Amino acid sequence: MRIRILGSAAGGGFPQWNCNCQNCYGVRNGKIKATARTQSSIAISCDDENWLLINASPDIRSQLESFPDIQPKRGLRGTGVRAVLVVDSQIDHTTGLLMLREGCPFDVYATEMAHQDLNSGFPIFKILQSWDGGIRHRLLPIDGASITIPRFDSLRITAIALQGKAPPYSPHRHDPHPGDNIALYIEDVAAGRSLFYAPGLGAVDANLMAYMAQSDCLMVDGTFWSEDEMILAGVGTKLAREMGHLPQSGKGGMIDLLSRFPGQRKLLIHINNTNPILNEESSERAELTANGIEVANDGMDIYLETRKPHLVHSAREANA
Ligand code: MLT
Ligand code: MN
Ligand code: ZN
Repeated sequence: MRIRILGSAAGGGFPQWNCNCQNCYGVRNGKIKATARTQSSIAISCDDENWLLINASPDIRSQLESFPDIQPKRGLRGTGVRAVLVVDSQIDHTTGLLMLREGCPFDVYATEMAHQDLNSGFPIFKILQSWDGGIRHRLLPIDGASITIPRFDSLRITAIALQGKAPPYSPHRHDPHPGDNIALYIEDVAAGRSLFYAPGLGAVDANLMAYMAQSDCLMVDGTFWSEDEMILAGVGTKLAREMGHLPQSGKGGMIDLLSRFPGQRKLLIHINNTNPILNEESSERAELTANGIEVANDGMDIYLETRKPHLVHSAREANA
């Protein structure tokens, strides 16, 4: 499978329109070595023609316009987007559904909890009904069962419930339910390779660790460097973990966690604009690099393909 990073920033993007923090000021004015980023979303394909969009960000229009492989190829109207899957009902992951209105009807995979929010506190499903019947909900189970999606025959997708809260506008904001937030385990059975994707990840348990251990690529929450980053930057009052994000630094942080998976490709995504790792010359970024952790950027492609036969082994066999 091919994974295209459409957007790699957290909610607000980088720079954020109303932010003048060191990073946002720095990237706007060329004072730091950093690249602007749109809000987090990826697209997956096994044939470069049919694309599964995972999360629909408010920046979706520019994301699709900057990616020719997903654009209309035949006929007057068309798209490479075959379906959309959302990992929660947050603004940064779902607002793009509204921008896709011209393409209704299409399928949207969501957990029952996210579906409820998107019919109540943020009623995107209801709003879109006025466009050719709107979007069709397809249930994303959280009982460990995997699903398949038409035109993605070799993909098996499993949603894993995460700890965390529903968004502020959810009717059950203060009463967390399994399925409010999920991680995804996406297996390409034809290639025998898999991706673990969790743009919001505040805590891990044994079940989650087992999925991480069997994934070839871990693409995880890169929101904050430190627990009190928003407070230190003077732009917020909440701690990282309170917002459902495991900070990278510190004991038990993301760097520690990822060090338990030495042989796997590791990338951070959903980077908040306050995070010092956005500055490519920062010591924090150097620490990630030293730990074998990459930082996703918009437009990046990751290929998880069939393993080549083991050449050393076959050479040895030939000599025998
Ligand atoms: C989050 O994941 O915490 C969000 O990016 C917050 C937001 O979208 O405002
Ligand atoms: Mn977010
Ligand atoms: Zn900022």
